[in-house]
Amino acid sequence: METATATDTYKTKVTAAFNGAAATYDRLGVEFFTPMGSRLVELAAPGPGERVLDIGCGLGATLLPAAQLVAPAGTALGIDIADAMIEEAGREAERQGITNVELRVMDGEHPELPARSFDLALGSYSVIFLPDARAALARYADLLADGGRIAFTSPVFTRDTFPFLPPLFTPLIPFELLQHLPEAWHPEQLHRQLHSWLEDPRDLTAALEKAGFTDVEITDEPVLMTAESGEAWVDWSHTQGMRLLWQHLPQDEAAALRERLITALDALRAADGGPVVIEVPVRYVTATVAR
Ligand SMILES: C[S@@+](CC[C@H](N)C(=O)[O-])C[C@H]1O[C@@H](n2cnc3c(N)ncnc32)[C@H](O)[C@@H]1O
Repeated sequence: METATATDTYKTKVTAAFNGAAATYDRLGVEFFTPMGSRLVELAAPGPGERVLDIGCGLGATLLPAAQLVAPAGTALGIDIADAMIEEAGREAERQGITNVELRVMDGEHPELPARSFDLALGSYSVIFLPDARAALARYADLLADGGRIAFTSPVFTRDTFPFLPPLFTPLIPFELLQHLPEAWHPEQLHRQLHSWLEDPRDLTAALEKAGFTDVEITDEPVLMTAESGEAWVDWSHTQGMRLLWQHLPQDEAAALRERLITALDALRAADGGPVVIEVPVRYVTATVAR
């Protein structure tokens, strides 16, 4: 993002989108964030007694399994810019009977937290929303104790595919539709400003090393996203990042896109009426602070 104002506007919109999504986020019968979060936690392997920070924790897809692994002596702090997400995450922790969790509304790009106070920093599908994530990586290194780790996920970004979604969606969401988005949200802008460093593993490794990390490991693995039907997938898409697109489309374009997606996704279902299963490539990144 080029100016403070552009950054603020962007963050205000992201916050509003996730506040609006919080009540149904990840709860409309589509499996994606939860299996991805569990896999990230498995790779990060938090141990008993560790202090975990989850940046952009949402409803706790990584925070809550991590909290369980570090219990009883360890703690997990979840921060998110969207207060409604934090409230829902608190309810979810209570529902699951997890008590070693703390939740705070905070901009994850500039966390106001004491230096060297965590053993593990997590961020599943969240650092991708930070206007200057590379600068934030150095702040995360400062927050980690010696030998601390970072672990995050991102989509496997590929130029000219619809951002955040696997390639099968690219022909279904024509780039012309994206002209309705503010310019800063056009895929080529998003790519240049937010995501280009995540695309090539060499750039990603260099960014982490520059921020003070070592032993970078990058693993691309598919998550099998499952939805009961095309319609269930489209309803769910209003509760995650794609909400930003839906919000900007004129009604007729939104209705046509809805129909197109439902038809194409239902065509993927097995003849016996099984669920829609979409292979989504996910990038898992882990690294250790270099001290
Ligand atoms: C796609 S959701 C992922 C949530 C969760 N990590 C999960 O895996 O389900 C992205 C989250 O990042 C949060 N977020 C976006 N920008 C942020 C920022 N600057 N600081 C903190 N959280 C942010 C959003 O509010 C949202 O909860």
